[in-house]
Amino acid sequence: MTRSSADDPDRLQAVFAYHQATKHRFEAYARGPGYLDWATQPEPFRRYVGARLIMLHRVPPGDDPRYDAVFAPGQGPAPAPVNLRSVSQLFYDSLALSAWKRLGDTRWALRVNASSGNLHPTEGYLICGPVEGLCDTPMVCHYAPQVHGLEVLAEFGAPHWGALCTGFPAPTFFIGLTSIHWREAWKYGQRAYRYCMHDAGHALGAISMAAAGLGWRTRLLDALGAEDLASLMGTFRDHDAEREEPDMLIACVPAQQLPEQTALPDAVVRPFAALAWQGRPNQLSPSHVEWGIEDIARAVRKPRGEVQYERLASAPSLWPLEPHPVSLRRTIRQRRSAVAMDGRTRLSRVGFYRMLYRTLAVPGTVPFSTLPWKPHLHLVLFVHRVDDLAAGLYLLVRDPAQREALQAAFAQLSPCQSPPGCPEQLPLYCLIEAQTQTAARQIACHQDIAGDGCFSLAMLAEYRAPLERYGPWFYPRLYWEAGMIGQLLYLEAEAAGIRATGIGCFFDDPMHEVLGLAGDAFQDLYHFTVGGAVEDTRLTTEPAYPV
Ligand SMILES: Cc1cc2nc3c(=O)[nH]c(=O)nc-3n(C[C@H](O)[C@H](O)[C@H](O)COP(=O)(O)O)c2cc1C
Repeated sequence: MTRSSADDPDRLQAVFAYHQATKHRFEAYARGPGYLDWATQPEPFRRYVGARLIMLHRVPPGDDPRYDAVFAPGQGPAPAPVNLRSVSQLFYDSLALSAWKRLGDTRWALRVNASSGNLHPTEGYLICGPVEGLCDTPMVCHYAPQVHGLEVLAEFGAPHWGALCTGFPAPTFFIGLTSIHWREAWKYGQRAYRYCMHDAGHALGAISMAAAGLGWRTRLLDALGAEDLASLMGTFRDHDAEREEPDMLIACVPAQQLPEQTALPDAVVRPFAALAWQGRPNQLSPSHVEWGIEDIARAVRKPRGEVQYERLASAPSLWPLEPHPVSLRRTIRQRRSAVAMDGRTRLSRVGFYRMLYRTLAVPGTVPFSTLPWKPHLHLVLFVHRVDDLAAGLYLLVRDPAQREALQAAFAQLSPCQSPPGCPEQLPLYCLIEAQTQTAARQIACHQDIAGDGCFSLAMLAEYRAPLERYGPWFYPRLYWEAGMIGQLLYLEAEAAGIRATGIGCFFDDPMHEVLGLAGDAFQDLYHFTVGGAVEDTRLTTEPAYPV
């Protein structure tokens, strides 16, 4: 098992120090530029100059599959054949542009996957064997959302491909994600690494839900080390453009059954570094400021090795949900963040419970079956406007085995009774009945959206114990889990006819103080708000791609 905390005490200390240093406090925000330097604003799109471009199809969303079908184990669509059309659809529904917004002469693109500040540090890669209509030769490509195409970076032989995907049902292929930290650091400074990892989690969630729409399953290949990922995606190459840190590789399995395998053979991965790599990454900004992000990125690089993750001791049981009459793919492509909440819209109690239930890691369900580890994040909910439910603070325990630890950690509050009408499948507890809009707003950097929705929430991670158990490389994984919950909540809100917004700006320790949390057994990693959106009527919307 890969356990690097003992081997790497300095790296673990670097993680704890980074996390502490990048907390927003009432007295001072984490270190950042404090203004937007427009002269160094990063180009929104990474392109590989000189790489051959393969255009993908823009597959318009239809009525099927229905949104809920893909979340009910065994009821999703039959696996689609892997071909140009289905691979195109997978990218179209996960990492592609979803629209352009315009205000006067200024225009900016939105994407299917959410990103802090719309800065999109996450880049996508495809590693595949021969795919009907797409390629005859196995290849590594960079996904270019600007044009919805694949830039071919390297090709390799069929025997090499056969050896790479040994153990996976044919025709499995792989999707890699990397982060260009500078994109977020340009605006947010030192805290930006956190946002990059939230965004990677959003992208991972988006990919796993888009794959489910095609009847495919996804699995994080977590036995790979950072060096393996760099070899497979070619990010080890020297160039003058902004560096990409490889984050993860995901197996995309066109079958209902998900293999347990999380590794690729070492002897097959290493030779990728010797392929004839094509294309030169474009430079995004003329100059950069180093905020210490490369130090934390180095500290959390995972060594190669299988991990014996702890499993959920008692998995949540199935709660059959009344389906929403909406299309999965339309919901995915119309997802948007609310920029303001109306302070009026209310959510039904059962609607609230079902959203929370979806965030549980029910075995075999999308998207959390992609992750090989048990849930480490719990939700602390600020309930503002839910019918027949008292306003107040609630706790959703995503791993029931941690309930006692949470109870012991909350010095001020005690998770007591299950709220009225709450199904037994949902481990939700009332902490205190009270009006919490003001507290929610203040803690979310005084942002009104946190108090003006139906509810907002803090994602509280079991923090020190998993980092000490697994090693410093588990730090970004906590954020990936948070981002996945976020991407799912966006879709749940959209399917229910309301909206959501991720909230990366919050005051860390003041949130801990509300709960009476001392020490770092648990830490707040991400906030979210869900409610009735107010449209910004000054903006116009244009299609994602020329029609
Ligand atoms: C990790 C993360 C943090 C975010 N933090 C905030 C925030 O603090 N306040 C806010 O208004 N929006 C926040 N957002 C919403 C983004 O600004 C929004 O996703 C982005 O502008 C793209 O718009 P879209 O979600 O409509 O595609 C956050 C989004 C993410 C993914």
